[in-house]
Amino acid sequence: MKKIFLILFLSFSLHSIAQPVAIIPKPVKMELKEGSFTIDRNTSLEFDSKLSNLRNTVSFFSNFVNDVSGIRLHQHWKNGKKIYLKIRKEKVVGDEGYLLSVTPQSIVITANDPKGIFYGIQTLIQTLPKERTNAALQIPSIEITDYPRFQWRGMHLDVSRHFFTPNTIRMYIDLLSAYKFNTFHWHLSDDQGWRLEIKKYPKLTSVGAWRADRRGILWSQSQPTQPGEPTTYGGFYTQEQAREIVRYAAERNITIVPEFDVPGHSAAAITAYPFLSCSGKQQTMITGGIYPKDYESTLDVGKDSVYTFLENVLTEVMKIFPSKYIHIGGDEVDKSPWAKDSACQRLMRKENLKDLDELQSYFIRRMEKFLNAHGKKLIGWDEILEGGVAPEATVMSWRGESGGIAAAKQHHYVVMTPGEPLYFDHYQAGPEGEPLAFGGMNTLKMVYDYNPVPKELSPDEAKYILGAQANLWAEMIQSETHVEYMILPRMLALAETDWTPLPEKNYDDFYNRVQQKFREFDQEGLTYCEGNFNVTFVPGSRNGKLNVTLQSEIPGAQIYYTTDGSYPGAGSILYNGSVNIDSSMKIRAVVVQNGIVKSKVPSQQSFVVDKVSGLNVNYQFPPSTQYMANGINSLTDGIRGTLAVNKYWHGFAGNDMIATIELPETETIHEVSAGFLQRYSDWIFLPQWMKVEVSDDGQNFHEAGKVKNDISPEEMQLLIKDFKIDFSSVPCRYIRVTAKNLGVCPPGHPGEGKPAWLFADEIVVY
Ligand code: ACM
Repeated sequence: MKKIFLILFLSFSLHSIAQPVAIIPKPVKMELKEGSFTIDRNTSLEFDSKLSNLRNTVSFFSNFVNDVSGIRLHQHWKNGKKIYLKIRKEKVVGDEGYLLSVTPQSIVITANDPKGIFYGIQTLIQTLPKERTNAALQIPSIEITDYPRFQWRGMHLDVSRHFFTPNTIRMYIDLLSAYKFNTFHWHLSDDQGWRLEIKKYPKLTSVGAWRADRRGILWSQSQPTQPGEPTTYGGFYTQEQAREIVRYAAERNITIVPEFDVPGHSAAAITAYPFLSCSGKQQTMITGGIYPKDYESTLDVGKDSVYTFLENVLTEVMKIFPSKYIHIGGDEVDKSPWAKDSACQRLMRKENLKDLDELQSYFIRRMEKFLNAHGKKLIGWDEILEGGVAPEATVMSWRGESGGIAAAKQHHYVVMTPGEPLYFDHYQAGPEGEPLAFGGMNTLKMVYDYNPVPKELSPDEAKYILGAQANLWAEMIQSETHVEYMILPRMLALAETDWTPLPEKNYDDFYNRVQQKFREFDQEGLTYCEGNFNVTFVPGSRNGKLNVTLQSEIPGAQIYYTTDGSYPGAGSILYNGSVNIDSSMKIRAVVVQNGIVKSKVPSQQSFVVDKVSGLNVNYQFPPSTQYMANGINSLTDGIRGTLAVNKYWHGFAGNDMIATIELPETETIHEVSAGFLQRYSDWIFLPQWMKVEVSDDGQNFHEAGKVKNDISPEEMQLLIKDFKIDFSSVPCRYIRVTAKNLGVCPPGHPGEGKPAWLFADEIVVY
């Protein structure tokens, strides 16, 4: 694949100084030919003037050409060469696809619909420079047949946690449009700000859009606005501004799906209109992650006045946004106020709702009925499945794919946006040297490798997957350049995932095209992440001996490493196949590209080597499939767990860990230890005790030692504890380690009485 790219690149440069062809998303079918078309002062852009809906696209392209070259394209001009835009029945490309034919004599874009013509134009633009140039504008001869894999190609932006100006929104829309996204999900309300003018409820923006300025303070430590404190930080879009943005987006083939997040995440609306909450209490705007005790962020869904409020709001919203879908949130609702609220309780009795999930479901259904009656469709986060999904609702699956899978199996439409890998507020590299991000790691390659159709779905069920979307939550993001950085280049990977047929995708080829886009970003002054230059350590074993594979997601890069603790560089050992781990060591490694060390800090991993390293582990109760670490033998892979739950731990829900290891031959042992995690907030507790038994035949075991836990299950500090048992040397062939699960979460814990988790890592035997 890479070779083909290089050849195309070369053949081009023989004929012209045109840009190499690096189109993202990669077209379905593309053939490069000899020669090129030159746009000059005689070139005209021709279209049937009856097709007035092409006018926007014509101006869009003419303005682009004029910006980069000063050339004004003619319309209906006798002389010179022509660019034709044609609407004509072309069965194969559907309503968003196009055919593009560039020869030295002409350019022809053909499509069924103006949407397809626009995408053909966007493809042409990708072959041209992005800054003013005096060089000839040459477009390589090319034949393209192109159409999208999915109908929902989305990007989301949270403007509640931090407000972004209309200019930033237009920049965002420009980027979406350049890479053939068609949906902008605009998260317009949340606890920290309401961002759209609603004429009937002016306080939504006069109160709910403004909070105390806490810039410079960590989000998690940002105290609520104090009574009387000036609320100078925030902002909102007037209805006129929102309408203008909708128009701007429509001219670029982008539908805006507005989100008003209810009935949870509604603190800003409640602060403006306290009657919306169960308590009706006055409160001030929160400014970040600190929620005072009894702070109200959930609407009182038992009151008719709340429905009237929402219907009035949505009536204004529907007049601004022509989108078929309206997003009503539905995520992470703190339902506890409903349990104590008389209106909610009355409604539950009247409607025969058996629990609070069914009450939420009632609320969503009622919102759906209202939207449907106005010709709109409801979409919500996957929590809307709880208590029964509304009849026509579309589900946005964010807590992994399970909500999306469940919805598709119930024949509801689904947009896939799983936190891993599609939350773009997470790190894409580092985290050393990266701006502070909200969560884990979603790299360019992880996004590229994502397939929105889970294998659990039958071909019939898979038809309910509308496509994939990435979400940019803005808790940590305050500036336009930071927005750019978080989405570039990851959104290009999603663009290709959403557009290009699966068999046509190839990461190495994509990576090369992204490098070309970096040059364009530089021309356009866009901020972007150069890449994830981490080294990943993948432990393995061969014949009972540990080894490790070092991986980088940078195609063509080298990895250099040390094993003696020294700082690695381009003069260290060049990685060339897996490294044997024959004694305890720390490997430190860097990625080198074109002779330059690209890693900001070395990646490193320690290995512990002992008598059971690399051996198979047999469990009486297998670990949870969610917490399999490096695979079933992760407890003998030489790698210790870290304080993060997903890093190298085997998790057991409610069960004991009973692990048996067979030694290759009878050996004398005198010490066994294993590590365990306590993470109270995640229901993870140290074992009550650990016991070691030994055996010669794998049948008859006798106890070598036992150690009890001396740390309270109520300890809330995150901690790792090694349980270690020393005993007088015994010869044995089999070792059985039992760690006793706490059983259930302790009294006073939010999960009181429910199964406790036990998390175990490396078993070390000497
Ligand atoms: C979400 O991230 N709460 C949808």
